[in-house]
Amino acid sequence: MVRMCRFLVCVFSFGFLMGGFSFAADEKGGDMQITEKIIKLPAPRLKSNISLEETIYKRRSKRRFTQQGLTLEQVSQILWSAQGITNKAGFRTVPSAGALYPLEIYAMKKDGFFHYIQEDHKIKLLSNKDLRSRLSDAAWGQSFIEEAPLDIIICAVYSRVTSKYGQRGTRYTDIEVGHAGQNIQLQAVALGLDSCVVGAFGLKEVAGLMNLPKDEEPLYIIPIGYTK
Ligand SMILES: Cc1cc2nc3c(=O)[nH]c(=O)nc-3n(C[C@H](O)[C@H](O)[C@H](O)COP(=O)(O)O)c2cc1C
Repeated sequence: MVRMCRFLVCVFSFGFLMGGFSFAADEKGGDMQITEKIIKLPAPRLKSNISLEETIYKRRSKRRFTQQGLTLEQVSQILWSAQGITNKAGFRTVPSAGALYPLEIYAMKKDGFFHYIQEDHKIKLLSNKDLRSRLSDAAWGQSFIEEAPLDIIICAVYSRVTSKYGQRGTRYTDIEVGHAGQNIQLQAVALGLDSCVVGAFGLKEVAGLMNLPKDEEPLYIIPIGYTK
């Protein structure tokens, strides 16, 4: 018992010394790695050289991407378009039934897997592995998911809305995902990028790969990049 207490004290002290970093086992690989790191994103821009009408006109599903990576500014802008906060009350770029905000936004890139935190406009590193090929496998081999330099994944916590609206909350949440997806696609065009929304994937496989909490479901994968 005493030995166990000593062990726990050591573990907690080490965690404290690491200054907020935490460790977790990788879902498949089983190896231990740093999984918590916050990256502050550049402020989103509010002006563009392209009109809204032109972005609507130019939006097209594209499924062949070059290897060219995106800048942090581009990633920041896309995440902001999906769920960024746009007023002091905390309202966002996308409408939400009852302002209950069931959506969670994630980004998969070559350098890791991140969760968007709209408060303070930042991302949290969840894994420093490139999970895009496994995401592509979970979407029944849609290879452009692996090729794209950025995959956005929109997930939803239905209970945030069904707790107020009952079964209707499910419909409201599904509608809201469409708003976020459209914002992302139009924002991509405004940045000179292309994208495709993907709904054909194994829910369990993607949720497992992302290590999602039990009450959260993946709804959309949106690969984004420069078209070949
Ligand atoms: C809910 C939804 C799910 C979709 N899932 C996929 C998909 O899994 N794979 C894919 O290649 N395209 C997918 N698409 C994109 C459609 O194929 C595409 O929007 C359609 O062909 C029209 O082309 P456009 O987007 O260029 O106008 C999906 C679109 C929607 C709205």
